[in-house]
Amino acid sequence: MKPVFILLFSATWMQCGAQLYYQALMDYLENRLLAIEDHMHVWQEQARQYHVELQHLHKQSKKTMEGLNKTHSALSTDAEAAAVRMDRVERNMDLVESQMSPRACAKQADRVIEQGVWSQEESREDEEEDWQELSSSVTDCVEIVSSLRSVKILKRVGSSKGVWLRDPRSSKVYVFNGTMGDTIYQFKSVKEFLSSGVSLGHPIKLQSDWSGAGVAVYNGFLYYIQQGEDMHVVRYDLLLGEVTDVAILPVQSLAAVYSLNPETVADLTVDDQGLWLLYAGDEDEPNINLAKMDPVSLDIEQIWDTRCPRENSEAAFIVCGVVYVVYNTRLASRSRIQCVFDVNDKVVSEEAPLFYFPRRYGSHASLKYNPDEKQIYSWDDGYQILYRLKTKRKLLV
Ligand SMILES: *[C@@H]1O[C@H](CO)[C@@H](O)[C@H](O)[C@H]1NC(C)=O
Ligand SMILES: *[C@@H]1O[C@H](CO)[C@@H](O)[C@H](O)[C@H]1NC(C)=O
Repeated sequence: MKPVFILLFSATWMQCGAQLYYQALMDYLENRLLAIEDHMHVWQEQARQYHVELQHLHKQSKKTMEGLNKTHSALSTDAEAAAVRMDRVERNMDLVESQMSPRACAKQADRVIEQGVWSQEESREDEEEDWQELSSSVTDCVEIVSSLRSVKILKRVGSSKGVWLRDPRSSKVYVFNGTMGDTIYQFKSVKEFLSSGVSLGHPIKLQSDWSGAGVAVYNGFLYYIQQGEDMHVVRYDLLLGEVTDVAILPVQSLAAVYSLNPETVADLTVDDQGLWLLYAGDEDEPNINLAKMDPVSLDIEQIWDTRCPRENSEAAFIVCGVVYVVYNTRLASRSRIQCVFDVNDKVVSEEAPLFYFPRRYGSHASLKYNPDEKQIYSWDDGYQILYRLKTKRKLLV
């Protein structure tokens, strides 16, 4: 009986010990759970706070955004209104300018030197006949520029300065990129020029450098200024690819003919009336000089002082023996024709136009008049622009 009791006792004791042990475990777990619950509570509280703060932030940023949006739309409305007003002012200015009487300096022609400065002996009979014809066509030509008809911006190619023009006797277009170089570029037509992307066209390499924007093309001949120890005008046959004549120019210095385009010492224009040269003479000469040259022999036939100042001039073009000088300011604003000179003294001041070109990109590097189309090929800060002109008959006095 005794061993049975002992066994029973120890079983009871063991049961008792296990119970104690479980109790302790349970207590421990309960404490842990309570602690975790506490933590969770804290986290929850924090999360709620964050949430509230985020909501607050959101509300505030929305308010700020709305404020900004309002300010922005108010500003843009203001800007639009200002632009509209500016536009109106511009248009009014155009109107006033176009109605203002011209301050032309079309005065008595100063015939400084008459007839043949160089190589007088060489003049052949047939050339004299040519000159007779040319001379009469100057007087026959009775057109005067009255206003700007339209403006067309074609494209932007090449550097900020350059020249583009069309041979009035063919459809060919020539591009002179920059202010000097030994290469020019040719297109078959304005259409080809338009569709050629950034390409400058078919290159033509000359035997010497052209310099400045004083270039002209007429009937397949290129006329350009070659700058060396002396200034030369070169006549180049574009079909044969050779120089046909060279002449020294009557310039004593590298003074620019147009003060706003210092690279251009002399400017050339050629049309049915002949070859015209606009130049500075020398540094102290305040006015633009004009010379008429024989387009074949390059002999100078006559020289005038145009009385048009070089200061602030940008470019000039010649229509029917009348020089139109375009002026601007050093910080390019709006170009305007402000001085007119008629070699035949026929244009009276009241007739002479004074008009502004529309606001542009930069400043005109060149203005090349095409008598055939009555439009100017202009190069404005790398943009190629066409200005179509309105002309009227001169009042013959
Ligand atoms: C700002 O305003 C424009 C209309 O003026 C509206 O379409 C847009 O939804 C607004 N944006 C905000 C962020 O309020
Ligand atoms: C035009 O000339 C400028 C330098 O004067 C050069 O950088 C540019 O590449 C030329 N443009 C083209 C299309 O050749």
